[in-house]
Amino acid sequence: MSLMDIVIYPDAPLREVASPVVKFDSELNRLAERMLETMDANGGVGLAGPQVGLRKQIVVLCEPEGEPMCLINPEIVEMDGKDYGEEGCLSLPDLYAQVPRATHIRVRARDVEGAPLDFEARDFLARIIQHEYDHLQGKVFPDRLDALTRDAVFNEWEEIRRRMDAGVSVTD
Ligand code: NI
Repeated sequence: MSLMDIVIYPDAPLREVASPVVKFDSELNRLAERMLETMDANGGVGLAGPQVGLRKQIVVLCEPEGEPMCLINPEIVEMDGKDYGEEGCLSLPDLYAQVPRATHIRVRARDVEGAPLDFEARDFLARIIQHEYDHLQGKVFPDRLDALTRDAVFNEWEEIRRRMDAGVSVTD
């Protein structure tokens, strides 16, 4: 199976709102598999449709030592608590920030076969789901920061992206 190309911020469709999936077929299954492989190969813990050029509400994720999971058309129906934790994103490589997220959420979604899911998630899993859910709304993690920090983080990103585009390695 061939890996998918990761869309780098701010390229389309990262700033677009993704559409619900209506067809649960073998193509969707294959797509989820390819996304999981692409996520693993890039060392990510989550990947959303828009990050591989798909305007579809599909998310794959896997907590370290957890089971891979695919969420279709996810909704976050309850949120509780707040905590800061470090986040990065395959679409904004080498950029990291402490991002506030709810510590406890309740999620409704469909699995890749179309079966309804309704479950609660806490802490790191809740963080991953919120991060990936945001991608489906056209949001990226710096959007969740206070205005001052957000500006600084986006400025840092512009510098990283400039160097990427110039073909210069960004590793220290
Ligand atoms: Ni991301």
